[in-house]
Amino acid sequence: MPAVPSLAATVHAGLQQAIGAALPDAPDCDPQLRRSDRADFQVNGLLAAAKALGANPRELAERVCAELSSRSAELAGWEVSGPGFLNLTLADSALLAQAEARLADDRLGIGQLPGAGVTVLDYSQPNIAKEMHVGHLRSTVIGDALARILSFGGERVVRRNHLGDWGTQFGMLIEYRDEFGADGADVASLDALYKTSRRHFEADPEFAERARRRVVALQAGDPPTVAAWQQIVDESKRYFEAVYQRLDVLLEDADAVGESHYNPMLADVCAELEASGVAVRSQGALCVFFDGILNPDGDPVPLIVRKKDGGYGYAASDLAAVRERVATLGADRLLYVVDSRQALHFRMVFETARRAGWLPPEVTAAHVPFGMVLGPDGRPFKTRAGGTVRLVDLLDEAVDRAAAVIAEKSPDLAPEQLAERAAQVGIGALKYADLSNARTRDYVFDLARMVSLTGDTGVYLQYAHARIHSILRKAPADAGYLAHPEVALTPAERSLALLLDECGAALAAVAESREPHRLCTYLYQLAVSFSAFYEHAPVLKAPDAATRENRLLLCRLTARTLALGLGLLGMAAPEQL
Ligand code: ARG
Repeated sequence: MPAVPSLAATVHAGLQQAIGAALPDAPDCDPQLRRSDRADFQVNGLLAAAKALGANPRELAERVCAELSSRSAELAGWEVSGPGFLNLTLADSALLAQAEARLADDRLGIGQLPGAGVTVLDYSQPNIAKEMHVGHLRSTVIGDALARILSFGGERVVRRNHLGDWGTQFGMLIEYRDEFGADGADVASLDALYKTSRRHFEADPEFAERARRRVVALQAGDPPTVAAWQQIVDESKRYFEAVYQRLDVLLEDADAVGESHYNPMLADVCAELEASGVAVRSQGALCVFFDGILNPDGDPVPLIVRKKDGGYGYAASDLAAVRERVATLGADRLLYVVDSRQALHFRMVFETARRAGWLPPEVTAAHVPFGMVLGPDGRPFKTRAGGTVRLVDLLDEAVDRAAAVIAEKSPDLAPEQLAERAAQVGIGALKYADLSNARTRDYVFDLARMVSLTGDTGVYLQYAHARIHSILRKAPADAGYLAHPEVALTPAERSLALLLDECGAALAAVAESREPHRLCTYLYQLAVSFSAFYEHAPVLKAPDAATRENRLLLCRLTARTLALGLGLLGMAAPEQL
C-alpha cells in the first residue's frame, strides 16, 4: 500500500498529486514529498527521475516548480537547491483552509487505503484451561489496534482468535478430574489442575496411558468426554470474555475459532499434502522439508504435520486454517500477531500452503511478530516465585495506580467517576506502553512509568486531550471554528497545523508496516506540539477575534485528531479527567 492516502484531502496528499502531474511520465520513479527542516516539504527522488528521463536534474526541478506555481494559492515559496533538490513552503491560508475543511469531515479528511480487501487477522489466541499472561497482552492489544486501523482504512477485517482448545493436554485434564474429583470450576483452579495432572502424567505411566485413551475418546466424539471438554472450554471462554471486556477490545464470541474447529479437516489436509507429494513420511511422521532450514547439526528441520503416533501437530490446524481462510473467508491477506519465537513455524506453514496451492500468489500471508515483555531485571517477566504473571493482576494494579494519579489531580471526584476514569486511564496506560514500543523489540514492564503524567505515556496523551476540551468548554458560545485565512500563522501555529495534516500519512504507515508505534509517535509529537503552541499562543485571550477563531479551530482539530488516534489504538479519550 502506498504511503499516502488516496484521497487528496490533506495538503500533503494534494501536493503529492500535483508533483505527480507536473512530472513527465518516467518509469520506476515516484518522487515523494517529505517533511523537511529547511522548508515545510522537500521533494525526494527528483534526481532519480531526471536520470531515468535523461534530463538535467536542476532543469527538471525548475520545470516541476513552474507547474506547481500554478497552484500558488497553496504554495508560499519554492526553491531549487543543490544539484536538483526542491524545497516547498506552504501558504498559511492553505493550511488554515484545510484545517477547517477537515474539521467539518467525519473522517477528518482522511481517505481510505487504496486496494482495500479482506484481511483475516489472527490475534490474542490464549490457551484453554490456562490463565492469560502478559504475553497475551501484546498479541491482544497489537492485534486489536491493527484491526481498528485497517478497518478505518476501508479494509474488511475478519478477526480470528485462534484459541488453544485442542490437544493431548485435555486427555490428562479430563481424566484427572474424573479420577480425583477435583473441581476446576474456574480458570484459576483449572490452571492449577492442569499443572497437577501434568505432574501425574509424567510420574505415573498407568495414568498416562488412561489419559492417552481419553484423548482418543475425545477425538472419537465420546459423549461424556466431549461434554467434559466443552465445559472446560466454556468456563475458559467466559474468563477470556471478561478480560476482553476490561481491556475494551473488539474480540467477540464469534471471533473465537480455536484449534478444535479445524480438527475435522485435518485428515483431509494430510491426505492432500501426501497425495501431492508436498509432505512425505519420515520415521513414521508426515513431514514437509525445506531447502536451507537446518538444525545446528546440519540436519533438515521438517514441519511435522502428523506425528508418528498419529496425533496431529500444531502445524496441521494452522494449515487447515490457511486453507479455510483463503477458500471460504475470501482473504486477500492473512496476518498472524504472534510472538517472534514462532517465526520459523509460520515461515514453514506459509511455504507449505503455497506449495499445496492453498495460498495462491495473489494472497499475502505475514507473521506480525512481537518482542517479549521483560521484568525489572531485564529477564522474561515472572513473579517473585518464578511463576507466570497473571494478566488480570496487572490490569488491577494498573487501574489502582491510575486511580491514585487521578485522585491527586482531582481530589473532589465522586467515587463512581473516579472508578470509571481510573479504568480508562489505567487500561489505556497499559495498552499505550505496549503499543508505543517498536513492535519487535522487547520492553521492560514498568507500571510506575506507564501511568506517569509526563513523558511518552498514554496518560500524558489522555490529559492533553482533556486539557484541550477544558479550553473548548470556555470558548464563546458563538465560536464558529472557521478559518480566517488572511491572518498569518505564528511558527508554533504553523508547526501544529502541519503536523495535523500528517495524521492520514501516519495511519497509512501503520497499515503498511503493521507497526502501531508509528501512530503512537505521531500522537505524542502532536501533543508536544500542541503544548508548545498553547504556551506561545493564548487562545481565549488572543489579541483579536480572527486570531482567536484560528486558534480555536486548531485546538478543536487537535482534540479530534487525538481522539481519533487514541480510539484507533483502542484507548479511551475522555473529555474530562
Ligand atoms: N495459542 C498459541 C500459543 O499460545 C498461539 C497461537 C497463534 N496463532 C496461530 N494461528 N498459530 O502459543
